[in-house]
Amino acid sequence: MATTTITPQAPWTPERIAEQTRRFYEIYTRDAAAIRARHAAQTAPEAAALRHKYQQPVFGEIPTWTLFEMMARVIDTADDRLYCTSQEIHILQVIEAMATDGMAREEFVLAALVHDLGKVCMLKGESAENATYMNSLLATADPGAGLEQCTLQWSCDDLTWSRLKNYLPPHVAWLVRYHGISPRESAPYMDARDRDYAERFLAPFQMYDLFSKSPFGRPRTRLEDYRPIIEKYLPPRIVF
Ligand SMILES: [Fe+2]
Ligand SMILES: [Fe+2]
Repeated sequence: MATTTITPQAPWTPERIAEQTRRFYEIYTRDAAAIRARHAAQTAPEAAALRHKYQQPVFGEIPTWTLFEMMARVIDTADDRLYCTSQEIHILQVIEAMATDGMAREEFVLAALVHDLGKVCMLKGESAENATYMNSLLATADPGAGLEQCTLQWSCDDLTWSRLKNYLPPHVAWLVRYHGISPRESAPYMDARDRDYAERFLAPFQMYDLFSKSPFGRPRTRLEDYRPIIEKYLPPRIVF
């Protein structure tokens, strides 16, 4: 049965704000937890099927900037830190948190701009349980063999990496690909390069990616402000 979300427009009182916030919070967090649980249960055959599916373009060749504009329409329903906040806002919150800490080096800003771009596949009907959240290891190689030898669950991280890897500096491409792993789970399988990148890039990036999220954090900058960085690294049109 559908849950009624409309109440007669009484004035906003602290009680009404608290009541409505609690109700929406409960619905959202319950649904988000269910989506995350389904992603966590993604099996190796399901991941392989998604990897195969996304060898085909989602949009074909399209203006690169259009992809970034689409992020304003993407809401990650698995994310119970952002709630209905768009992925465009998420990008800006990450960058601004980095800037506050003096961490907004170009490589980190570039990673923040592109890291979740694959979530645009949800605008073409992909489910959030396939496209978002953390990725666990499905098959491991020998300890120390390198993450490239392991198989991860599939999500937008893989999609973003596969489309952008040829344009990004190697360490940024690596960061995009692995920004949703558990460092603790993956550490035994990392090779020397993985460990170096994990320490220098993944550890700080995950902190800003996760902990800058808020439905109340209004960005002070616009995506357009960072367009020169996008245009410096990515071509004007891209097959995505
Ligand atoms: Fe992500
Ligand atoms: Fe993110």
